[in-house]
Amino acid sequence: TKEHSPMQQQAQTFGYRLLKQDGAARLGEVVTPRGIVRTPAFMPVGTVATVKALTFDQVKQAGADIVLANTYHLMLRPGAERVARLGGLHNFMRWDGPILTDSGGFQVMSLSKIRKINEEGVRFASHIDGSRHLLTPERAVEIQCLLGSDIQMQLDECISLPAERKETERAMELSLRWAARAQRAFSDLAKPGQALFGIVQGGVDAELRQRSAEALVAMDLPGYAVGGLAVGEGQELMLRTLDGVLPHLPSHKPRYLMGVGTPSDLIKSVARGVDMFDCVMPTRNGRHGLAFTWNGKVNLRNARHADDPAPLDEQSSCPGARDYSRAYLHHLVRSGEYLGAMLLSWVNTTFYQELMAAMRLAIAEGRFNTWAEETLDRIERTN
Ligand code: GUN
Repeated sequence: TKEHSPMQQQAQTFGYRLLKQDGAARLGEVVTPRGIVRTPAFMPVGTVATVKALTFDQVKQAGADIVLANTYHLMLRPGAERVARLGGLHNFMRWDGPILTDSGGFQVMSLSKIRKINEEGVRFASHIDGSRHLLTPERAVEIQCLLGSDIQMQLDECISLPAERKETERAMELSLRWAARAQRAFSDLAKPGQALFGIVQGGVDAELRQRSAEALVAMDLPGYAVGGLAVGEGQELMLRTLDGVLPHLPSHKPRYLMGVGTPSDLIKSVARGVDMFDCVMPTRNGRHGLAFTWNGKVNLRNARHADDPAPLDEQSSCPGARDYSRAYLHHLVRSGEYLGAMLLSWVNTTFYQELMAAMRLAIAEGRFNTWAEETLDRIERTN
């Protein structure tokens, strides 16, 4: 497409190109052997090797360049060694673009009730069958190599907020030592063109965040994530924390804000210089009857849609938003039909990609701030 620069085929190394800056907002490209990721980018979440209720053709058609998958889930089922025997995750799930995998640190803490963290790693009982597992920084790298992930995340410890400073500092420093172990394992196991990102931790403490960022930057990793946010601290504190971290990250490498967020979170974070995001919100909300549109959120469970023949958005490129009446979507949602979840996941995944494309265009044309103001006004309405 016209957003792509000419030399896009078959890069054998990983890289980031900053194409244009508008204020702090960045237009760029993450270059991988499996293709270019136009940034700012939103990565649909394919936790268990599926973006729930969508085919990968739909995900691609929606405009996504990269998807996310989870070490934690895939190591438990179907198992990393099995995926490797079946030709790797791209072949297994039939997605030929780049894949970023999370390391499992966050998912262990949120999904496994029985778990114990020590210097070595995290021991936990599977949320599926109670079986015991050990995830170390080295094993997380090995699993992500078996999956064939293009961008790996280091194992980290993400604490829940609010937390004491001592506890925040302990988890941040443990995550730094784990980053160093992950980097050593990665240099032994990874193929050319694969990348390992470090994860900045430190809660909402500016000093701890700065120390974490500086130590990771000194390791010269190919990209940096900001973790431990959007865990209940609220948007204002999240943005303030982000403002404290981003100046310490190098401008020639991609910055990834993990697990974020609402359309408003995305716009305000891009305004501060974030390049990559992932979140379950478009697909999870879609399964629960909530649609994102350019005129705000629409709850299709609401009885006022029962007789409405109008589509969600007649100008959308997504047939789910353009061709089906609100009355029909309401009926599907109220009936608990699979098709309701499928259509609304499609609508929301397309909207999130349209939002990122609009941000990239606004940055390219040097009008990000005016675009952001107008768009925030429109999309923060709830219909
Ligand atoms: N996803 C959302 N937040 C985090 C985090 O802090 N660490 C990891 N590994 N994944 C996340």
